[in-house]
Amino acid sequence: MKEQLIELKSRALAAIEAAQDVKSLEDVKVVYLGKKGELTSVLKQMGKLTAEERPVMGALANEVRERFESEYNTKVSALKNAEILTRMANEKIDITLPGKRRRMGSRHPLNIVLDELKEIFTSMGYTMVYGPEVEKTRYVFDMLETHEGHPARDEQDTFYIDDETILRTQTSSVQIRTMLDAVKNNALPLAIISPGRVYRCDEVDATHSPIFHQCEGLVINKNITFADLKGTLEVFFKRLYGDSIQLRFRPHHFPYTEPSAEVDLSCFKCGGGGCPFCKGEGWIEMLGCGMVHPQVLRNCGIDPDEYTGFAFGMGIERITLMRYEIDDMRLLYENDMRFLKQF
Ligand code: DAH
Repeated sequence: MKEQLIELKSRALAAIEAAQDVKSLEDVKVVYLGKKGELTSVLKQMGKLTAEERPVMGALANEVRERFESEYNTKVSALKNAEILTRMANEKIDITLPGKRRRMGSRHPLNIVLDELKEIFTSMGYTMVYGPEVEKTRYVFDMLETHEGHPARDEQDTFYIDDETILRTQTSSVQIRTMLDAVKNNALPLAIISPGRVYRCDEVDATHSPIFHQCEGLVINKNITFADLKGTLEVFFKRLYGDSIQLRFRPHHFPYTEPSAEVDLSCFKCGGGGCPFCKGEGWIEMLGCGMVHPQVLRNCGIDPDEYTGFAFGMGIERITLMRYEIDDMRLLYENDMRFLKQF
């Protein structure tokens, strides 16, 4: 048995020595120290020994096992270290590769124009207010004297949430909210602009979209006249487009203003001579405006004998197209970087 143990020891140690990786080393362990391993089966024969032989063989067997285990442990950590080193060598990251370039976005032309518009009006003393896009039909129509069955209501045939709630078709609803608030808080006079999104049941073409942007303006004070309206819009458009731009006020009808007008600007492409862009007119329609109707003032609890005011509503897309000489509104919504990068 002694010879058997010594022979086994030298074979086992040689096998440990020969193992090339952790997996085969573990197999060696099973072969010698496993339940059915060689050392285990030698030990099972201990019963056959005499009482004197047993402790001697026992000590030798223990020595063989201890030596095996210590060699085994040393080899395991050597192999694991080697494996880590190989992995580190193989998975090296080449930090000299150029990184992925992040493309810088640019500001959308609608936002650029909107900021210019805010800047001009706030410099004239206007405050910015915002109103909800999901709005009461009362504020969008009724309190603006556009009652059920009114043709102007039909024209803006729109997205109803329920009988009393719609996606607003015009920012004019903010007029009502602002006047009600001002009366409640005793905050007259007032001068506000309110930009935002509006919704109409429109097909998309070069000049229409079911979602677009407007900016409402409202001034209420004592002794406000149509001359104030004209002067304000003239200052605004000249600051936006330069002094050579011309304004034309055309009589019109809106249910919530009296008198009412539409304002045209001389065409930016032809300067007024007539071209395809202005459909030969020389003028481009820009906005609606007028003196706030006395009944609208009354609806909001304002005495029309004490206060008067003017209001206007302009399409921000139109202003943007004209500002940058873009001839198709759809370009504003397509998010094509080649287009957007130009501003
Ligand atoms: N709300 C009108 C529209 O959407 C524009 C407008 C006209 C606004 C006259 C006004 C106004 O404030 O006084 O076409």
